[in-house]
Amino acid sequence: MRILVTAGPTREYLDPVRFLSNASTGTMGYALARAARDAGHQVTLISGPTATRPPGGISFVPVISARDMYRAVSQHFNRVDVVLMNAAVSDYRPRRRRVRKIKKSGARFMLELVPNLDILKALGRRKKHQRLMGFALETHHGLAHARQKLREKRLDWIVLNSPSAIGALDAQITVLHADGRRVEMKKASKMELARWLVRLATSSR
Ligand code: CTP
Repeated sequence: MRILVTAGPTREYLDPVRFLSNASTGTMGYALARAARDAGHQVTLISGPTATRPPGGISFVPVISARDMYRAVSQHFNRVDVVLMNAAVSDYRPRRRRVRKIKKSGARFMLELVPNLDILKALGRRKKHQRLMGFALETHHGLAHARQKLREKRLDWIVLNSPSAIGALDAQITVLHADGRRVEMKKASKMELARWLVRLATSSR
């Protein structure tokens, strides 16, 4: 199958040297790309900036901002069968990106943010044959929030995990299926979880 994986954080620049981002390291997304490749699938990995080297034998598309990621995902979407949307996309970006470095003045500084497009929600509306897997990182009311995202983004599955997974090699995840099933996985390495998630997303239904 043709599998599109997104990974890592996005960066939203406010001036040439400063940006808003998050703590995602891309570990899980890169593990998904590797697992999908190892299972014989044709893989495209679209990734925000990370310190991890992309696996060989896949097509790699580096991006910076949420808008870059949306453009890249849109270009590939019609040609893929499965999307594993693991990227930690910034929900907001600064309203303007200054051309020059912002100088300090000592006074209070207000930064105006505007919402970024929800990439996965847009794919949920556009999807035809494609299967969509989303990821939700929650600090509270995890199941309720994940269920709401599953429904609103019209996903086939959502993978719920907690902030302790950021940067870690292991994770404890719960997978919610669109049909209401819920599978709690034992704590395992991200590589093992990635293999299992790839099998789930590519198996016949
Ligand atoms: N996502 C996306 N585009 C965005 C934000 C999120 O495609 N602008 C995707 C993520 O890649 C993930 C899923 O939506 O697969 C859930 O992301 P998450 O950040 O947990 O949820 P949000 O919808 O942004 O909600 P909130 O930040 O309020 O929890």
